[in-house]
Amino acid sequence: MTVKQSKLQELPVDLDQNRLPHHVAVIMDGNGRWAKKRGLPRIMGHQQGVDALKDLLRCCKDWGVPALTAYAFSTENWGRPLEEVDFLMTLFERVLRRELQEMMAENVKIRFVGNLESLPQSLQLEIDRGMKDTQNNRGIQFTVATNYGGRQEILQACKAIAAHVHQGLLHPDDINEELFESHLYTAGLSHPDLLIRTSGEMRLSNFLLWQMAYAEIYVTDTLWPDFDRTQFHLALSAYQHRERRFGKVM
Ligand code: FPP
Repeated sequence: MTVKQSKLQELPVDLDQNRLPHHVAVIMDGNGRWAKKRGLPRIMGHQQGVDALKDLLRCCKDWGVPALTAYAFSTENWGRPLEEVDFLMTLFERVLRRELQEMMAENVKIRFVGNLESLPQSLQLEIDRGMKDTQNNRGIQFTVATNYGGRQEILQACKAIAAHVHQGLLHPDDINEELFESHLYTAGLSHPDLLIRTSGEMRLSNFLLWQMAYAEIYVTDTLWPDFDRTQFHLALSAYQHRERRFGKVM
């Protein structure tokens, strides 16, 4: 049996493989509440959240969704208690180091987006290594937004473009969507078709503001560590029932 056939077999029969989103973005919310409900420290929710993310990545691969982007740490998350921030930074580093071999084996191409220069040096090293080692992988594109803020991303693109204009390298009339996008952290990535947010909040929280102009938004009350394949199936099913008009009349 070819890999492709086994992938099709695993996709739930009610889902249309030709109408799957090409790119799914996730806001992994509710880790703290998941832990609190169990009388555990918040960090245990994040720890458990890693397993949910790993399973979603594998599920995207199995079912034929070619790109997944996860919001791991926002520019606003620095405002959390120091121990939690420290735990998260160490967790990212540990997971990256631990999973790199498996990502290579599964042909995952990992990319980090955000203001990476302000992250701890040791984490930056793991990020560089992960991106470099997996750059030629042609399986699923896995993007992790870390120290990411949509407004900041747009601002830094504006500044870079303004500098080019100032240096006479660019005329303001040449600024179009394509050029603008080439200055975003996500340059070269397709726009998410579907945004999934867990734990019931109906907000974008500064995530991929430009890129998600036409994303379908799916919100579930499920807390992130409990988000599994059944939940993903429900999200994809809801997505396939949406009519995507992109502002036009169909
Ligand atoms: C939001 O839940 C979750 C986060 C800010 C962290 C998410 C990070 C992970 C799941 C780890 C991912 C790991 C890698 C390597 C990419 P919350 O703490 O805001 O939950 P609450 O709203 O219930 O308090």
